[in-house]
Amino acid sequence: MNSQWYGIVLLGGPGSGKGTQAVLLASALNIPHISTGDLFRYNLKQGTPLGILAKSYMDRGELVPDEVTVAMVRDRLSQPDCALGFILDGFPRNVAQAEALDAVLAEFGRVITSAPYLHVNDAVLLERLSNRWTCRSCGAVFNKVTPPPREGCKKEHCDGELYRRPDDEPETQKNRIRVYEKQTAPLIIFYAKRGLISEISGEQDVEHVQLDMLRAVNLGMSGSSSQGAMKPSAADEEC
Ligand code: AP5
Repeated sequence: MNSQWYGIVLLGGPGSGKGTQAVLLASALNIPHISTGDLFRYNLKQGTPLGILAKSYMDRGELVPDEVTVAMVRDRLSQPDCALGFILDGFPRNVAQAEALDAVLAEFGRVITSAPYLHVNDAVLLERLSNRWTCRSCGAVFNKVTPPPREGCKKEHCDGELYRRPDDEPETQKNRIRVYEKQTAPLIIFYAKRGLISEISGEQDVEHVQLDMLRAVNLGMSGSSSQGAMKPSAADEEC
């Protein structure tokens, strides 16, 4: 079991594989995987006011307001299972959220230690979102390569029903990519300025992406730069 502290922010477009990789990384490092999308979907399933509010934004592929999202994350990060760190998937989603995250971590005397960035071309993102099936019960994700069994989930004795996320419909997919490019992609520069970004090709198979991911987060701990680590260019520094 590791005893290091990891503050990991996973960056990448919708469908780039953040959730798939975060599950594996959480198991390898023994720290929790915190997905703001999953937290919103859980709240919606429970019928909470937060879930109902979030749905109106998620259905359009827009971001849920920052104050709501930051309060939810703040609460989650203060849980005891985050004592050795966490993997954030889908948060922060814009610079204001990244600054709010810094402020929350400062209260705990912590900082972000690495920000792996999964790069996947838009055409591949759209194809993946169109072929994704998720288990309502255990959250397992299926795709073209590992197609969903006809009779339901069947992952580790699960019998859950499989469904397609409403925000994976074609028009919403495209808006999610637009929102990502406008609001979330600037975080690559935000974290590159701190030497925390490692760019990884998310178009490799899942196992190879995971190997690159493990290398990125462990190198992040020692502060050295990995192959593919990005430094901001002079032009980027100016913006
Ligand atoms: P969220 O749930 O975070 O969605 P997302 O960021 O769009 O990411 P996805 O979950 O769609 O994809 P992923 O990168 O996890 O890919 P996955 O591993 O599933 O957010 C949804 C909505 O919630 C937002 O639009 C917003 O409204 C709201 N929200 C969430 N966070 C917010 C925040 N911080 N602020 C405001 N609003 C927020 O993989 C995709 C598919 O590809 C799967 O089928 C998978 O099996 C397959 N796949 C994965 N890896 C590979 C591989 N290497 N090769 C082939 N196939 C692969």
